[in-house]
Order: sequence, then C-alpha cells, then structure tokens
Amino acid sequence: MTEPLLKVDNVSKRFGGVQAVGGVSLELAPAEIVGIIGPNGAGKTSFFNLISGMFFTDTGSVNFDGVDITRQNPVKRARNGIGRTFQVVKPFTGMTVAENVMVPLLVKSASVTAARRGAMELLDDLGIANIADAPSESLTLAQRKRVEVARALATGPKLLLLDEVLAGLNSREVVDVLPFVTRVRDRGVAILMIEHIVSAVMEVSDRMMVLDHGQQIAFGDPEEVIKDPKVVEAYLGTSE
Ligand SMILES: Nc1ncnc2c1ncn2[C@@H]1O[C@H](COP(=O)(O)OP(=O)(O)OP(=O)(O)O)[C@@H](O)[C@H]1O
Ligand SMILES: [Mg+2]
Repeated sequence: MTEPLLKVDNVSKRFGGVQAVGGVSLELAPAEIVGIIGPNGAGKTSFFNLISGMFFTDTGSVNFDGVDITRQNPVKRARNGIGRTFQVVKPFTGMTVAENVMVPLLVKSASVTAARRGAMELLDDLGIANIADAPSESLTLAQRKRVEVARALATGPKLLLLDEVLAGLNSREVVDVLPFVTRVRDRGVAILMIEHIVSAVMEVSDRMMVLDHGQQIAFGDPEEVIKDPKVVEAYLGTSE
C-alpha cells in the first residue's frame, strides 16, 4: 500500500459534557475520496476541526504528509496542504468570482497579474470560467459552492475537507456538482467529504465512514457500509 497522506489515530474532543469525537482513526491515501456520513451532532464537523487544527485533539495524533501535525496551528496546516470549506458558505462580498479566488493566490504570487492568471486557470480547469467576472453576490447557491471549492483549491492543498458542499442544492444541482468533486480528485487532491445526501456521497467515494455519537460505527466499501445493521439503526433511530 502507498504511504497514507493522512493518518488520524484515536482522536477525540470533549466539549463540557459532550464527547463530540470519541477516539476515531482514519487513514487516507493520496487522491482518495472518503465520504463521511452520520446523523446531526454525530461529530463530523468536529472531526474536521481536529484535522484542520481549529481544535486540538484531547487524545491520539494526526499525521499529514509524513509529519506529526498534532500540535500544529491551523495556519501552518493550511500552508502545508490541508484546505477546507465551511458548512456555511461565506464568499468575500463586493468582489467578483475571480477576485475571490485570487485572494489566497496573492499570498504566494509574484504580482496581481500572476494571481489573476492563476485564478483564471483554476476557474477554467474547473469549468466555471464563464462566471469569473460575476459579482459573488449574484451567484446561485450551486455556483457559490463551486467557488468555495475553487477558493479552497487555490491554496494548493493535497487534502481538501469538504463540509456539506451539497447541502441546500436541489437534486439536479447535486448531479451537476458531483463530477466537479471527482475533477478535483483528478488533479491529485485527496478529499474527505461530509454529506447528508447518502446516495450522492456514495457515488463519488472510494470508501465511506459513518460516525454516530462521536464513534466510528462503520468504515469501508460504500455499498457494504450502508447495509451495515449498525448504520441502518443509527439512521432509523434518529429519523423523525
Ligand atoms: N465549539 C463547540 N462548543 C461546544 N460544543 C460543540 C462545539 N462544536 C460542536 N459541539 C457539539 O459537539 C457535538 C458534535 O457536533 P458537530 O458539529 O461535530 O456534529 P455534526 O456531525 O457536524 O452535525 P451536523 O450534521 O448537524 O453538522 C454536538 O453535540 C455539538 O453541539
Ligand atoms: Mg456539521
């Protein structure tokens, strides 16, 4: 097996009386897509926060690209190749799509012209060059989701953490955005993807992990995972 890009070993996070994440482990190969599903409050976003460094883990360790990053701050982790989107999409307002994507590029570009060129190349590559000059306020939710991914990609990550990029989209928009996720992977980027729409995440995931009450209750082949009795029970047990 190739060296894992990300190796999360027994991480946990407690908030007061809530064990948000209770000892979860995961190995992710380069350019692999792993989907993460689970009921509301299962600890999915908290698990991402432990990987991105938003919070430090109470136990265990996080290894990325051969380096122990357990105590690294989020800025350093981002610089070393961990990109992320947020559950609530917040584009920079008063800017065009291209300018939104230029912001992270300006940090390492030689000039504004170079950053602009980089942003256009990325938008073109992702098939959304047509909206480059659109003001970010004018975008549909589906377009904003794509821009959010483009912006995260502009930092040049090796790993992208996508937190519910499909949320709020109608079924046709979901069908449009899914190939976009695969396209990102085809650029050599590994993806961890939190989603509530199980059928959608199954379609693009190489493997799938299910969290419930902060615990990993299933992990592996998506088809096998959704048939797992523990998974069926977790979903039925929380449905209204
Ligand atoms: N910063 C925080 N402070 C206190 N409690 C938190 C914090 N972040 C998360 N929690 C709690 O940890 C638990 C897991 O929350 P988390 O947001 O990780 O779940 P989730 O699986 O992402 O849920 P959802 O599907 O609704 O987004 C919840 O009980 C939540 O209230
Ligand atoms: Mg969440």
